Amino acid sequence: MNRSGRKAFRYSGVLAVLVLMPALAFSAEPKTEAELKNFVIQDCGSCHGLTFKGGLGPPLRPSDIDPLPEAAIEAIIREGVPGTAMPPWKALLTDQEIAWISKQLKSGALLDDGGSNP
Ligand code: HEC
Repeated sequence: MNRSGRKAFRYSGVLAVLVLMPALAFSAEPKTEAELKNFVIQDCGSCHGLTFKGGLGPPLRPSDIDPLPEAAIEAIIREGVPGTAMPPWKALLTDQEIAWISKQLKSGALLDDGGSNP
């Protein structure tokens, strides 16, 4: 390979990384349950508390969201709460992922104590 050919080859590698990275970060590929769990603890937890005891956002332990049916929680996650800090997540999460998260919040399964120790 001549000099400029090697250079082009190197650039194509950099380009591939640049093009692929956002695709990976925002991919609509189904996430594994471990990835989703991590996402909920870190991203939702940044506002709702790492143990869902509340922060900028209200607490999300099973007893806190008892009055909210699963479908209502799904709608809140999908659309957010306009006029508040709660953003819509439908661009990042599939309906299945949102349904899974709602179920986990209702059951407390993501919490070490199962949500039984408010
Ligand atoms: C930037 C901060 C922020 C992030 C990140 C965030 N929320 Fe919220 N969330 C809020 C706020 C603030 C409210 C309260 C809105 C209101 O006043 O009704 C809220 C409300 C909610 C409610 C309704 C609770 C209730 O009792 O009415 C649920 C459920 C909820 N969020 C789930 C989630 C989930 C799941 C995630 C992650 C996918 C998430 N939130 C990420 C700020 C956030």
